[in-house]
Amino acid sequence: MDLVPLVAVAVLLSLPMRGRCCGGGDGEELHPIVLVPGYGSSRLDARLTEAYEPAAPRCGARVGKGWFELWPNHATTQDPNLAPCFAEEMTLVYDAVADDYRNAAGVVTTVPSFASTLSLIGWEPLVRQLEAEGYRDEDSIFAAPYDFRYAVAPRGHPSAEGARYFGDLARLIERASRLNGGRPAVVVAHSYGCALTYQFLLSRPLAWRRRFVQHTVFLAPALGGFAEGMNGLSTGADYGLLNVPRPQRTKLARSMQSSLWRLPTPMVFGDRPVVVTKNSTYSAKNIVRFLEAIGFPEGVRPYVTRVLPMWQALPPPMVPVTSLYGVGLRTPETFVYGEDGFEGIPEVVYGDGDGDINMVSLAAIETEWSGVEDQILKVVRLPSVNHTGFFTDHSALKKVVAEICEAAATIELPQENKILSFAERRYSAM
Ligand SMILES: *[C@@H]1O[C@H](CO)[C@@H](O)[C@H](O)[C@H]1NC(C)=O
Ligand SMILES: *[C@@H]1O[C@H](CO)[C@@H](O)[C@H](O)[C@H]1NC(C)=O
Repeated sequence: MDLVPLVAVAVLLSLPMRGRCCGGGDGEELHPIVLVPGYGSSRLDARLTEAYEPAAPRCGARVGKGWFELWPNHATTQDPNLAPCFAEEMTLVYDAVADDYRNAAGVVTTVPSFASTLSLIGWEPLVRQLEAEGYRDEDSIFAAPYDFRYAVAPRGHPSAEGARYFGDLARLIERASRLNGGRPAVVVAHSYGCALTYQFLLSRPLAWRRRFVQHTVFLAPALGGFAEGMNGLSTGADYGLLNVPRPQRTKLARSMQSSLWRLPTPMVFGDRPVVVTKNSTYSAKNIVRFLEAIGFPEGVRPYVTRVLPMWQALPPPMVPVTSLYGVGLRTPETFVYGEDGFEGIPEVVYGDGDGDINMVSLAAIETEWSGVEDQILKVVRLPSVNHTGFFTDHSALKKVVAEICEAAATIELPQENKILSFAERRYSAM
């Protein structure tokens, strides 16, 4: 009998039960982790230059005064005097000649603390749990925050901000690997961050993906957009701006490059009615007609040329993926506008999902990737865990950490495609 396995078993049995699953704690054998946050979970700093033209004089008070926190600036968004200034400074401009998005004139922005987990908003509980597994900030665990107002564009269309982010993300993943004995990284993304990570993977050569990405963990992936994406463009997405009138909120929502990425995709949503008015029914297949009907014709060209081509198919990334998401929560599915048309407040019809993202979008990759050779996909459904529950719900948090650790453990890849789909029971006692 071979001695080696016996020794291995003995060592395993002698390990104290510390609840560690990622590694022994000395950091020696860890696969690095790179976190890609969701929409609104990155900080933004800004400064205003002389080129800034404030709509109201009070908004100009910060001109020439250096950097300040633009997002999440709770004080500003709650102050009735300053909330409109905030909305104005967050607004992007689509430059039709350059075919790209940019900040409003005179507003310079930056994403602080790239690479550090301290840059993320709302991730502290998960980061703490991973640190308990032996991970250390900017040593074995990293974060890739980004300006969530932007997105990327398909080949042939410029996207200065998105292209820069993808470059930074690639270099960060390479650095994470280099600092950890050349081991490939586990990329953990949430929500909109999943959409970006997915497009990032597709944009890298397959050899690069296989060399540097051990596994990708998607938390609440919205790879088909969501119904609220349409409603957010007609009624104005709620950024917690209680003191900003609806027209200005709507203008802000429509100005963002990422807003068009939140729209439900025709590939995933098909003919489902998403917005219903007295005169018409709009599905993800009629987005162009919808954008015109809500008075946003400027959105048509960027939608058709820059967004739609990226979401017409969901090819497998050919690196192992674990997908975790909540199910069984009332999720807006159809918005029914009454007599006042798009000026009114819609009635909402609910369906299944995680409270924000519709089931059909959360589960899109399951149907698309089933039967694809060499694409490993593990799906974990968490009943009643909402869209941000991964960071607040204790049992969900434990489950996420366990899946990240499993992903980080070096495993021999099975030859055949494998989809494990199972519902997890929530234990209230955990
Ligand atoms: C519906 O059609 C009527 C007349 O054709 C028009 O006046 C009205 O603005 C339309 N309403 C909406 C919400 O499009
Ligand atoms: C999501 O669930 C958490 C509990 O896990 C709760 O604190 C939070 O308010 C919920 N969020 C929403 C938007 O319902």
